[in-house]
Order: sequence, then C-alpha cells, then structure tokens
Amino acid sequence: MEKTIEQIHQEALNELEAASEAEAVQELSVRYLGRKGVITSFLRNISKLPPENRPEAGKKANETKKALDKLFKDALKRLERIAADTSDYIDVSLPGRTLLAGSLHPITQITGLICEIFTNLGFDIVEGPEVETDYYNFEALNIPKNHPARDMQDTFYISDNIVLRTHTSPVQIRTMEKQTPPVRIIAPGKVYRCDSDLTHTPMFNQVEGLLVDENVSFGDLKGTLTTFVHRMFDDRISLRFRPSFFPFTEPSAEVDILCVMCRGKGCRVCSQTGWIEVLGAGMVHPALFENVGYDTSRFTGFAFGMGVERIAMLKYGIDDIRKYFDNDLRFLRQF
Ligand code: PHE
Repeated sequence: MEKTIEQIHQEALNELEAASEAEAVQELSVRYLGRKGVITSFLRNISKLPPENRPEAGKKANETKKALDKLFKDALKRLERIAADTSDYIDVSLPGRTLLAGSLHPITQITGLICEIFTNLGFDIVEGPEVETDYYNFEALNIPKNHPARDMQDTFYISDNIVLRTHTSPVQIRTMEKQTPPVRIIAPGKVYRCDSDLTHTPMFNQVEGLLVDENVSFGDLKGTLTTFVHRMFDDRISLRFRPSFFPFTEPSAEVDILCVMCRGKGCRVCSQTGWIEVLGAGMVHPALFENVGYDTSRFTGFAFGMGVERIAMLKYGIDDIRKYFDNDLRFLRQF
C-alpha cells in the first residue's frame, strides 16, 4: 500500500529534526517539495484514488506541502544565521593561547660556546657513542684491565666488555683510527660515572680535544687552552698547570683557572684557594699512537678533556651542579 500523506508528513518532520546543517535542510526541501519530490508525486497520483477520497487527500497534501515549506524555510534561515554568527560559540574577549617558546638548556648553550671557540681555532667537531666497549674506553687509552687507574672513574658496566663511557677520551682513538695526522678535533658529549653529590652527577658532559701533527709541543697545548679560557671568560683569567697523571697522556697536567668569582682572593667556590680546576690535559702517550698505527717518531700531540657543567657553573655563578638536571623552569628560564 502507498504511504498516507500523514506518514509522509511525519517522516519529513523526523528528518528535519535530524538535519543540523543548511545543506541538509535544502536537500530535504528538494526531496519532499521539488518537482519530482515525494509530495508532488503524491498529488500527481491522487487520480488513482477512489473518487470520493480525492478531495480530502488533495486538501491534506496541499496543507502538508505548505506547512513543510514554512518549516524548511525557517530551519534554513536559523541554520544560516548560526553559521554566520560566530559570537554564539566563540568568546572573542578570552585571552589568546600563549605559545610557550622553549629555549636551549644552559649546558647546551655552553657546549655550543666551547665548540664555537674551538672551531674558530680550526678544530673539527666529532662525536662518539655513549655506550662504549672496554677497549675504547680503557684498553686503547693505555688503561689495561686491573690497572689502578680504572679506580679514578667509577664505571657503569653494561656487561663485562661494554660500559657507559666514563669520559670522551675514547673518541680520540676512534678518530685516529679513521684518519691520519694532522688531526684537530673536539668531541662534545655525555659521559657517565657512578657518582652523585654537590659537584657530581651520574651523567655529565665533557668536551674532549685532540691535536696531532709534527712538532706539536706542550707550549701549543698551553697556548690553545689559554686562548680558550680568555675567550670563554676574559683576558685576565690566568691558568695554572699542575703535574698530574693520566695513563693516556705523558706528561699530564691538571689545569686550574683563576677563580672567576673572587679573582684569586679566595672564596667559598674555590675553597679559599683562589684557583678552580677545570680540565685534565697532557701530551698524547705514544702507546695510543702505537694502538692506532701512527708513527711515534714523527708525530706528537696534545689532548685535553673538560667538564662542561663545571665551566657553566663558573660562567653563570651556579653553586650546585644538580640544579642543571632538576628541570625547574624557574632556574632554566634564567638562561
Ligand atoms: N679523560 C680525562 C677525564 O675524564 C680528561 C683528560 C682528557 C685528560 C684528555 C687528559 C687528556 O678525567
């Protein structure tokens, strides 16, 4: 049986209820009231009804057509107004969303500064792995197994032969294995030692330096480091070389700089000595050259390793190394 006009009316109302966009209402209007629409064809088919029912059906169909037409038009207007009027759902007086701009961590900034100073002096930047083999971290650096020098660095072992590198010095070996002199590199990166207090964190950053060529002397080492310190701090910060021991350098030195806080008078930061230790250095031990196949009668070189956190503490006047890694934005925003 054909649908009655009441059924058609009800279905149209249901569909209108569900229409949430102007386009949908427009489509409904065409489908019900258009030239080939549902109601139009109902009217056209009225002649098939028994004659006595025709007038009543025709009247109802025309009423429905009119009513729906008005409903569709009203709905269309309402939806178009909502679409045009954004004030209904956007409060334009609300403050905008602030984009929080990030910034470079102070350690990253100082590492960048150190790299800049040394690249200006002609050094290349190279990197090495943080998970190292025992060979590169110790053995090739003239630190055999069971050598007491291994006690200088409290090591995180991954397995018997794999460690988290305790210093950036393995990059010296990796670089020399790959290229022949002249070598002029610095190697920034993270290092790990099982150690934690006011001046030590289990992870910290170093920058290694290595220069190998003919006729390289201890004077070249002194000159290079002096230039570095003067550029990093200022020209009046002098350096002091103290004899020391590293298995991979001979002779070895520990380098102090005049305390940047008190300029030598003595203060809490320098433990009243007027000097602060900032790096280890020395002339490359010939054993390393033998390990990488360099001609020890022809080449000499110097190497140094500095702690980036230490340099940054002096540069910024920070007294506790752990502050770098607390992730406290009040601290980090100052840089
Ligand atoms: N690798 C040494 C350390 O971490 C520093 C160093 C580097 C010393 C190069 C001499 C030459 O303590």
